[in-house]
Amino acid sequence: MRLFIAIELPTGLKKELERLRTDIPGARWVPREQLHLTLAFLGEVAEETAGRLIAHLAKIRADSFTLSFSEPGCFPDRQRPRVVWIGVKTEPNLLKLAAAVRQSVFAAGILLEERPFSPHLTLARLKLPAAAELRAFIDRQSRITLKPFSVQEFTLFQSKLTSQGAEHSPVRCFPLTDAVSETGR
Ligand code: 2AM
Repeated sequence: MRLFIAIELPTGLKKELERLRTDIPGARWVPREQLHLTLAFLGEVAEETAGRLIAHLAKIRADSFTLSFSEPGCFPDRQRPRVVWIGVKTEPNLLKLAAAVRQSVFAAGILLEERPFSPHLTLARLKLPAAAELRAFIDRQSRITLKPFSVQEFTLFQSKLTSQGAEHSPVRCFPLTDAVSETGR
């Protein structure tokens, strides 16, 4: 199974993010329903290991928090943009959650890339050099304010690669601690 762990976004926010699209040649925009905030990308994982991972993720006790957004940007840099994103503010509870998720992944015996967690919402991937169009996109988006939202859970997703691109489906959702006590579960 090809797996990743992410924060699902509210439908309203996904619609707003879809409206941010501009005409960038060679851009492959992430389909609206697939927009998410990646906490950890695991790649191929055996089913047995996935079972262990779920057990570890279910033990995470992390507080819910409000996610707010910062400036747009790109990877690896503005001269050679490949991935276009909207930044996410580094709220301490988000960092704690990402660290707890990483720990669960290691505890399940899965190796992760050593890249530091850099929270962002990927909007598009670029196939062609488009530095000028990207600058225009960033200038425009820098003036737009996205509404913060309350994060109550995180999700383990399966990503299936098809000839039409990746298909994401939720495997399991894990409530954050406040959400558990509020609903009495
Ligand atoms: P990102 O672009 O938002 O960081 C699911 O494939 C998600 O995992 C992608 O949206 C991507 O999120 C993240 N990811 C990180 N490393 C990846 C990799 N090597 N291959 C595919 N996805 C990766």
